[in-house]
Amino acid sequence: RRFKVAVVGATGAVGEAMLSILAERRFPVSELVVLASERSAGESIDWRGDEVVVRDLAGFDPAGVEIALFSAGGSVSKEYAPKFAAAGAVVIDNSSAFRYDDDVPLVVSEVNPEAVKQRPRGIIANPNCSTMQMLVALAPIHREAGIERINVATYQSVSGAGRAAMEELGRQTGALLNFQGADPQRFPVQIAFNVIPQIDEFMDNGFTREEMKLVWETRKILGDESIGVNPTAVRVPVFYGHAEAVHIETRDRIGAARARELLAAAPGVEVVDERVPGGYPTPVTHASGRDAVYVGRIRDDLSHPRGLDLWIVSDNIRKGAALNAVQIAELVAAEG
Ligand code: A2P
Repeated sequence: RRFKVAVVGATGAVGEAMLSILAERRFPVSELVVLASERSAGESIDWRGDEVVVRDLAGFDPAGVEIALFSAGGSVSKEYAPKFAAAGAVVIDNSSAFRYDDDVPLVVSEVNPEAVKQRPRGIIANPNCSTMQMLVALAPIHREAGIERINVATYQSVSGAGRAAMEELGRQTGALLNFQGADPQRFPVQIAFNVIPQIDEFMDNGFTREEMKLVWETRKILGDESIGVNPTAVRVPVFYGHAEAVHIETRDRIGAARARELLAAAPGVEVVDERVPGGYPTPVTHASGRDAVYVGRIRDDLSHPRGLDLWIVSDNIRKGAALNAVQIAELVAAEG
């Protein structure tokens, strides 16, 4: 059976990847509708050799759409996702608009696929990119040894902040190499040749919203409110691919050798862990444009008997967003 599929935010960094991943994975599409704002309505996009014309979301009637992938920001999702769901579509939403609602499942396809079935509002949420890649790697360790606590520092690429943010890194890099000013617009300070310890807004507790997403989403997806998560989220001048230095403490001692074994067998994970120069994953050498979550630098924590250190890298636009959304769509399609 084939499905009428809509992609909302199809001209954005994630939306464009959704379209190519739907094609790559030969998702059973009977009709594809690509939607964006009135700014890009009328543009045409090549999809599997066909010209598809971008339509304005505001004037679109969702009747007949069966699966809708949303990635046009939280306010667009808040307004339009319920309308698509009311018209009968299953909405897979990449924004944070519904992630923390109890009646909206938050799903990583390798971790809690069964959760897609409980969707009373017809909406399934796609997790934040940083949480996504971290949990693909940590879930198999959690299942075997139980994770008590996670300390994580992220190194996040600019594509996570959208197309305009990528353009800003390019523009600033060129300007600075030509002895001109950086002129920050999308980022609070210069991003080229710099690192910024702030992603999203500050919360009352001193953490940023991006950091709290790691706390809230980890607990919801693993179904364990007792897991301690202590995050620092940092933006780095990389185009595609997030990296994370992750330190965990497990309930039972597991050890680096067993962790490496579990990771090697885990779906969606590739272990790259040779102790030689370049024998570890980086955004540029491994993750960018690829589907897997890459894990390297697996070692026993020197300072804690049940501690383990890992370096986790993945393409934030693919597994971190578009790919997982399409994998959720595949789970829905498999229901028949
Ligand atoms: P548009 O290209 O017409 O502005 P990114 O995160 O890379 O900036 O992409 C955001 C995506 O969300 C784009 O496809 C953008 O379309 C779309 N978008 C933003 N605002 C709206 C809106 N009000 N209605 C529909 N689509 C929107």
